[in-house]
Amino acid sequence: MLRSTGRLLLLALAASHLLLAAAGAGCEPSGSLRPSRGHSCQDCCKAGQAYPTYRCSPPVSSSTRAVMTLNNFDEGGEGGDPSECDGKFHHNSERVVALSTGWYSGGSRCGNNVRIRANGRSVLAKVVDECDTLNGCDREHGYQPPCRNNVVDASQAVWDALGITGEEVGEYNVTWSDA
Ligand SMILES: *[C@@H]1O[C@H](CO)[C@@H](O)[C@H](O)[C@H]1NC(C)=O
Repeated sequence: MLRSTGRLLLLALAASHLLLAAAGAGCEPSGSLRPSRGHSCQDCCKAGQAYPTYRCSPPVSSSTRAVMTLNNFDEGGEGGDPSECDGKFHHNSERVVALSTGWYSGGSRCGNNVRIRANGRSVLAKVVDECDTLNGCDREHGYQPPCRNNVVDASQAVWDALGITGEEVGEYNVTWSDA
């Protein structure tokens, strides 16, 4: 009697986890940042506004949907500090990306290539940085809000290789996978 109740509980737990995974749920905001001081640069945090934070990203598949944004990886760029993976800045002529915290996965993809598909093209880009979904609005993060949890933040070279004009559109829906 006890044993079968235990099994039923296990089955119910397994089923609820499958449902959560299928919905891409279980990746809700973990909190929010509300900076007391704002900054006047473009896209910078504004005083008193709430920015959601995330500890997770949607599950990775062979075709993970993401929003590609444009990042300046060079010294003095809006990216803030050097890249998290190697402590260095990168030229925007290099095909490099930062991934949202959940996908950055504690640096486990550092130095690896990911394949990004969009606009009928495909490009390999090296993971060099984290797009921090937990912290932001400070000097270290170039006074930018925390990242969304589904971002591939890419250099100009990646946008160019995909044939998309970054400056005009700002962000672009892509899919990516481990390469
Ligand atoms: C990008 O994807 C989001 C979410 O899947 C969707 O709501 C949006 O319409 C898409 N944008 C474009 C320009 O296709």
